Amino acid sequence: MKAMTIHRNGGPEVLIAQDVQLPPPGPGQVRLRHTAIALNFSDINVRRGGFYIAKPLVFPVILGNEAAGIVVSTGLGVADYTPGMRVGYVGVGGPFYENTGAYCEERNVPASCLVRLPDGISDAQAAAVMLKGLTAACMINRIWRPKAGDPVLIHAAASGVGILLSQWLSHLGAQVLGTVGSEQKAEFVKQNGCAHPILYRQSDFVAEVKKIVPQGVAAVFDGVGKDTFIASLDCVRPFGMLINYGNASGHVPPLDLLLLAKKGSLSVSRPAFSSYIADPQEMRQNFAELFNLLISGVLKVEVSQTYRLQDVARAHQDLESRAFVGSAVIIP
Ligand SMILES: NC(=O)c1ccc[n+]([C@@H]2O[C@H](COP(=O)([O-])OP(=O)(O)OC[C@H]3O[C@@H](n4cnc5c(N)ncnc54)[C@H](OP(=O)(O)O)[C@@H]3O)[C@@H](O)[C@H]2O)c1
Repeated sequence: MKAMTIHRNGGPEVLIAQDVQLPPPGPGQVRLRHTAIALNFSDINVRRGGFYIAKPLVFPVILGNEAAGIVVSTGLGVADYTPGMRVGYVGVGGPFYENTGAYCEERNVPASCLVRLPDGISDAQAAAVMLKGLTAACMINRIWRPKAGDPVLIHAAASGVGILLSQWLSHLGAQVLGTVGSEQKAEFVKQNGCAHPILYRQSDFVAEVKKIVPQGVAAVFDGVGKDTFIASLDCVRPFGMLINYGNASGHVPPLDLLLLAKKGSLSVSRPAFSSYIADPQEMRQNFAELFNLLISGVLKVEVSQTYRLQDVARAHQDLESRAFVGSAVIIP
């Protein structure tokens, strides 16, 4: 079967197509034919050199952590899945950034990591939303939930996670402010719950936030990291919360905790969605909530762009250049 592999870290050009032998599924495993594969910013981080990775990668490496697919066959001891079922997965257990392997046509995945996909959610939508939606859910359900009227700031509000936060937080009654990199993205986020887009490449976002909410926002959701996090301390009202969940622009520098006192008794959180799905039973409940939010229309995912598996290098270029608006997936 075809897989997109890397034989060294580097730019998108290190992604190359390769024929790979896949053994039959082992005990407890399910063989899937991928129908839609997710594109995540973490795939780029692993390709570049993986600042999350604890031990050196053993090349060749197949990137990707998330996909939807059809069950082809099952290994010994698998009772819950039969050929033809539509399923999805985010991670396959173990260290998330080291156990990659979704950029391929077929894969053996532990049955314990799979979820059934409900009717009403397409394979492409599932691949576009599972990891990003669980990340938004982890923050809203476990870290900070708005009260009606609370002002919040979402950085990169048009990003994969950002747009789901915008839809969900506005549904919960928050007043959503969001930074975006272009006019096109500003229009997109306005249609998705963000009442106040701020063009942060052209203006000082702290000043813009203060114009809209002079007392500061109750919480900041930040997936951009290095370029936005420290300045965001000045956007938050006393006792407010700053959540840094990503590093699209690079790591946040070490933080002096005293700053949190000086800026008004602020709190900071740095979640990883993998903690949110570590327990298999909770994982299923969390997926069920996410799928219900999609089916009920609170969350909306339109896959605006698809790439063929062999074109994944172009997909990485587009992601890194902040080129596309909406969701994109790989269709093998
Ligand atoms: N903690 C977790 O468990 C978790 C889970 C999922 C994702 N993440 C992380 O969250 C971040 C966002 O993920 P996502 O899937 O929402 O990303 P995405 O859809 O690829 O969007 C990233 C956005 O970040 C903005 N950005 C700002 N500076 C950038 C730079 N130097 N290079 C590229 N983009 C830049 C861009 O928006 P503008 O053009 O509007 O500036 C870009 O579209 C990533 O760092 C990802 O690894 C963390």
